[in-house]
Amino acid sequence: MTKYVIKKAGKYWPSKAMKDIAWVNDSKIYKQADKDPVKFWGELAKQGLIWEEPWEKTYQEKLPYFYWFKGGKINFCVNALDRHLAHGNKPALIWVPEPIKEKPIILTYAELFQQVNKFANALKQKGVKKSDAVSIYLPLVPEALVAMLACSRIGAIHSVVFSAFAPDALKSRIQDCEAKVLVTADGYYRRGKPVNLLKKAKKALRGTKIKKVIVVPRLHKNKNYFGKFENFNMFIYGKKSYCAPEIMNSEDPLFILYTSGTTGKPKGIVHDTGGYATQAYYTAKYNFNLKKDDIMWCTADIGWVTGHTYAFYGPLLNGATTLIYEGTPDFPNPDRWWKIIDKYKVSVFYTAPTAIRMFMKLGDKYVNKHKMNSLKILATVGEPIDNDAWNWYFKKIGKSRCPIIDTWWQTETGGTLINVLPGIGPFIPTIAGKSFPGTKHTILNKSGKKVKKGFLVQESPFAPGMLHGVYKDHKKYVETYWKSFKTKYDTSDGAIMKNGLFRITGRTDDVMKVAGHRLATAELENAINTNKLVNESAVVPIPDKIRGQVPIAFVILKKGQGSEKLEKLLKEHVDKHLGPTARPAKIYFVNALPKTRSGKIMRRILKSLLANEEPAGLTTLLNPKCVDEIKKIIQPDLKKPENAKKSKTKK
Ligand code: PRX
Repeated sequence: MTKYVIKKAGKYWPSKAMKDIAWVNDSKIYKQADKDPVKFWGELAKQGLIWEEPWEKTYQEKLPYFYWFKGGKINFCVNALDRHLAHGNKPALIWVPEPIKEKPIILTYAELFQQVNKFANALKQKGVKKSDAVSIYLPLVPEALVAMLACSRIGAIHSVVFSAFAPDALKSRIQDCEAKVLVTADGYYRRGKPVNLLKKAKKALRGTKIKKVIVVPRLHKNKNYFGKFENFNMFIYGKKSYCAPEIMNSEDPLFILYTSGTTGKPKGIVHDTGGYATQAYYTAKYNFNLKKDDIMWCTADIGWVTGHTYAFYGPLLNGATTLIYEGTPDFPNPDRWWKIIDKYKVSVFYTAPTAIRMFMKLGDKYVNKHKMNSLKILATVGEPIDNDAWNWYFKKIGKSRCPIIDTWWQTETGGTLINVLPGIGPFIPTIAGKSFPGTKHTILNKSGKKVKKGFLVQESPFAPGMLHGVYKDHKKYVETYWKSFKTKYDTSDGAIMKNGLFRITGRTDDVMKVAGHRLATAELENAINTNKLVNESAVVPIPDKIRGQVPIAFVILKKGQGSEKLEKLLKEHVDKHLGPTARPAKIYFVNALPKTRSGKIMRRILKSLLANEEPAGLTTLLNPKCVDEIKKIIQPDLKKPENAKKSKTKK
């Protein structure tokens, strides 16, 4: 069995076998790229992508905006599909449905090309033009890829909304990007049961400008749709299988993806075409060492940026095969994932630490019986990975043969930015690694001085895949990313530098990561506050062994007492407004929340209390007495009340 790692001085490094197959195996690349990052990216973009017309200026910066490949003309879909048609019989996509009795769908590049072109022509016939937004509310089904690529073919901007989001969340996103077309499905399978997605989609439509709803008949429940609803298969039926690609400017938007910020309203993160394509292509190539015969499985849903860049676009830009799985990881048995890896000979596996922790808890017997000897590279994303989870992943899934690439990035960055390259190493638990060649990150303190532990920022020239602003919200873009450090992009993450490598310590703002999903405390508070019984609420995250973090809510009722029944009702209320991912793990009913004299809720005091720590800074509170009341209420849930220690939180 080929070993792709070796152990030297207590650390893992790439073996000769890995170095031999790696696209990048010489650390000189960092220095070379650093000398002239603009030239570095310019050369990569020229070599790696098909441009209809060359650019005039490789990089232009007018902060807070910056532009890559200005004047360059490109079509994204041509790069993801057309250029691989010489190997048209090669699988582009393997789709594994949840029900084990159902057959997988394998689409070759030629077949995918045909479907994408038909869908593109159908969209055009319905009047969808360049720069129009199309909302996509789909589970992990092949049609999601078809719809997204079809949009890129005609220059429309896709906005994918996570299928587990509630109707309200879908509605606000449709309204913000003013989409007139929605692509959705009648449903999908979860734990063997059909989930009715169309019902949720229908609820979201009122008050939007949606004129056409294209429905993927995943559950085959209803073949005939009326009015603005049309069956996906009928929509593309009889359409021509070639649609001339729209020639786009490099900096034209490719997609908008909404993500949580520190306020209640999600931000529409805009990604452009040429810059994003360059970063998606090269990060997929260098991080995962993708070759044409590789089968990459990125387990992320397409509702998240990881799904966009590494379940779909990165592998396709590289002409590799991507595998997606519709269902629940442990259904019908806890070894479903490992069976898939063996059956389809997955060579690159990319998942989130939360999933690894879940499988760890289920026990080793489910993984031990699977060889998984097709694997070459393992990777993680979304949250810090702890030592135990790293070691379990390394030993049990990688069978101590494969490197783990811990990739740090964000919805805003479009592609990975900090990680170790597989042909270079070292692979160290809890360490993300170095800035991707041609990019630069530093750690600053509040006053902007370079330090070893503090705020992680990105330096100019900013990476090509970086966001192109917040959709229709210049103010928010400036406030969120450029207010703190002016000429440097504020990642809102904390980091520590150790031997030239970054360890990511987590968000420095009011954003939680719940099972790898990004969620703002304000967003959840807003949802809770819309319940007519609620006067006010505060949400804080607490650590969770499996999910990384989970939200805890403190609620003041308008009148009356809290009860278990009311807690259940409010949790259901959150499910309805945001979706189950955001559901608080616990709701405490309180009479007051700790506030500053100016009325700001002091969430850090709530955090300390939940951590069983004595909170500092109580003297600055408007209502210090409420702290004792809250302590009493939460006390029964704190495991070791006698261990209360002095809080390290600053005053
Ligand atoms: O806090 C960081 C964390 O996820 C945040 C970005 O979340 P989102 O936009 O949903 O994108 C997730 C997938 C790219 C970051 O600000 N994060 C992401 N990757 C890592 C991470 N934290 C630690 N280690 C990582 N590898």
